[in-house]
Amino acid sequence: MKILVVGSGAREHALAWKLNREPGVSEVVCAPGNAGTRQVARQHPLDVSDPAAVLALAEAEAVDLTVIGPELPLALGVQNLFAARDRLLFGPSRVAAQLESSKAFAKDFMARHDVPTARFRVCERADEALAVVAGPEFGFPVVIKADGLAAGKGVTVAPDRAAAEQAVRDAMLDHRFGEAGHRVVIEECLVGEEASFFAICDGRQALALPTAQDYKRAFDGDAGPNTGGMGALAPSPLVTPDIERRIGCEIVRPVLDGLAREGHPYRGFLYVGLMITAEGPRVIEFNVRLGDPEAQVVLPMVRDELAPLLEAAARGALETTSCDQTRDPHVGVVLASGGYPGAYETGAAIAGLDDASAIAGVLVFHGGTGVRDDAVVTTGGRVITVVGRGVDLAEAIECAYAAVARITFARKQVRTDIGRKAQ
Ligand code: AMP
Ligand code: GLY
Repeated sequence: MKILVVGSGAREHALAWKLNREPGVSEVVCAPGNAGTRQVARQHPLDVSDPAAVLALAEAEAVDLTVIGPELPLALGVQNLFAARDRLLFGPSRVAAQLESSKAFAKDFMARHDVPTARFRVCERADEALAVVAGPEFGFPVVIKADGLAAGKGVTVAPDRAAAEQAVRDAMLDHRFGEAGHRVVIEECLVGEEASFFAICDGRQALALPTAQDYKRAFDGDAGPNTGGMGALAPSPLVTPDIERRIGCEIVRPVLDGLAREGHPYRGFLYVGLMITAEGPRVIEFNVRLGDPEAQVVLPMVRDELAPLLEAAARGALETTSCDQTRDPHVGVVLASGGYPGAYETGAAIAGLDDASAIAGVLVFHGGTGVRDDAVVTTGGRVITVVGRGVDLAEAIECAYAAVARITFARKQVRTDIGRKAQ
């Protein structure tokens, strides 16, 4: 099987790395890729915001299966373009991808199908939203969310009325998130701990992957601004077998059944962002892809071949709902450019990559890296994810940080407490 992986982050490096090792895969092409994916895949330039270009590349390369890493091409309908040409792609259709690209769609869908989530109101106008915030419905803190894709910046947990009103004004009157903030969702603030659940879905059934925890804040002790994720841990100790069973029956089952009944069967990776509350698991958000950095810890735990599962799911015909997975803890630490998630510099030379990979149990996945004059340099905010594994969490943490210490570049920014929250 020849496979095209679309994207350029460490998540796509992990996907390409996993697929490239499998006997059933003859070749992996990664587009646009990075300095790491070129070790495991042939590279091709690509604008991922151009679904027609993705299709043209898949046709020119005559790939058997296309796997989409990021949400944007899916939200733009790349699956629909492929389906119209009878070409296999693993990822949801444009309508189903609204689970991520429209929070209002996701919340209304959950309400229709009794999926447990925070109580909410969708507001189309600022005066309406300001009235909800001023009223008694939610109290404080309250959560204000821009409806559309806002690069992870569209959510405000507002501690009081002034902050909530500011968030409404930012989104709806000052258009801080452009089109994405024309509508907002106002919702109840859930109390608990967060975990992420991932599944491979074929439209009818779900095959659960290892669960994970993401460290979203920039600095140690969960301080500083929100980021795309500074580290991850899998499996999540919060997701006990009982919680996992409830996620399956109370969330994943009604989501798949509901979308199928509405004529939009969900095929692709499904990522459920959860709050584990005293009453049980509640959906915070859906994503229509794997998480980054969660993919970097989750994919190495899958012992079975991934390619046949993705291919079968893309065809709507998964033959199994389980696969062989290790329970050994995996810890992923992100090496970011100094200043991230704010402004940062690029072009710094990266040293020690081979030394880090040489440590037993370590995997090094590239994110924002490129090649300049034969040297690997930084090109983005999240540069590398280093993954360590161990027989227990302490060993996985030690393994990851031994590798982190070997990789150096100017203004390297790393959290030193990844994995420790779960100990
Ligand atoms: P999202 O982009 O929807 O994942 O939201 C970003 C972050 O905001 C989440 O990871 C949570 O930490 C927080 N958050 C979102 N919705 C809620 C909620 N209803 N209650 C508490 N925290 C929330
Ligand atoms: N790490 C969070 C995400 O990928 O959305």
